[in-house]
Amino acid sequence: MANDHPLLMLPGPSQPSEEVLKAAASILPHYGREWKKVHEETVKLAKMVFKTSGEVILFPTPGFLAIETGLINLVTREEKILMCVNGYFGETALKAARTHKRNIVLLEKDYGEAITPEDVEKALKENEDVRAAFVVYNETSTAVMNPLRELCKVFKEHDLLVMVDAISIFGGAEINMDEWGIDLCVGYASKALGGMPGICPMGISKRLWKILDERTAEPDAWYLDFRTWKKSIEEMSAWGHPHPSSMPTHTVIALHKALKRVIDEGLENVYKRHSVFSAAFRNAVKAMNLQLVAPEEYASPTITAIRLPEGIPKKLIDGMLDNFNIMISGGLGKLAGKIVRVGHMGFTARRDHISRTITALGYTLKELGFNVSVDAALKAFYDSI
Ligand SMILES: Cc1ncc(COP(=O)(O)O)c(C=O)c1O
Repeated sequence: MANDHPLLMLPGPSQPSEEVLKAAASILPHYGREWKKVHEETVKLAKMVFKTSGEVILFPTPGFLAIETGLINLVTREEKILMCVNGYFGETALKAARTHKRNIVLLEKDYGEAITPEDVEKALKENEDVRAAFVVYNETSTAVMNPLRELCKVFKEHDLLVMVDAISIFGGAEINMDEWGIDLCVGYASKALGGMPGICPMGISKRLWKILDERTAEPDAWYLDFRTWKKSIEEMSAWGHPHPSSMPTHTVIALHKALKRVIDEGLENVYKRHSVFSAAFRNAVKAMNLQLVAPEEYASPTITAIRLPEGIPKKLIDGMLDNFNIMISGGLGKLAGKIVRVGHMGFTARRDHISRTITALGYTLKELGFNVSVDAALKAFYDSI
């Protein structure tokens, strides 16, 4: 294996830019004048990506803890929540909601299928007293992007509180919290945004912020309760400590750089870049006669999942790392051992990184006995961009 760092064409973490890597190699206390400025600016930029006039908290945790936290803040144990599940990440959120004894109505689709507005209508017709809904925007385990904007229309008609796991798409496709009526949206730093791992920006609507004020239910936790965070923002912002305890400041500094980068490029341009390069990558995969997990209509702009015969995914992943120094990833949950997943997000949603990946994918498959044409795959890619 080569000594230099592999190129990360993963569903996360994604390959950060040099600028982000440099920004992360810094130390700053989690309070005081300078931190206050960095924190305020980062929150402001994150609000622009979420398109919210509500609050943003920078939650210093991995994704699942942010999801678990969101779920216990969205509804109390008495209020019913519609959990929309169509893959491993939805399943895991469901486990968290069950662990916290939330009152669940389950809407489940198979891996590779999308949650549709019709599915939601039907579930809500059968359960009129539902108070909230949860959905994964981009199901990272299958590369299915659920039609969030359309789902939100139905949620809005039923006046539901809405929580979205946008972890693997935040910074890679449009999110409009205010317009679509999203009350809680969990983003992530080191996937489509290209920052460093360990921080989840969470957008919170004005409506949910107000509900928290009025809520009388006992908290399920101290640090994880948004009321604790709200109190810190209200009482400690003045001295630059708008969070309950210490923060991984270097990760936030890197997040600041990553957010600034997408805002400077222009959100529309960033989303278009993801959409164009993901479609071009899928065309290359199809030119190799491989089968995709997600139907084209719901294909993710940040990840592609490819079905392969049993035993091949591990060999392909190892071969691409050993011979081309490129990391791709395998399947999860029901698709473990059956697929590979390639991330093309943030800094890697670009011509050079994707064409290198197509070449490596094609030649490694050839070595594994597949009859693929790398030239045809590259042509399909270049013809599509
Ligand atoms: C959609 C989605 N939700 C949740 C998570 C969990 O994030 P973490 O592994 O940081 O806990 C991931 C991670 O890939 C994800 O893609």
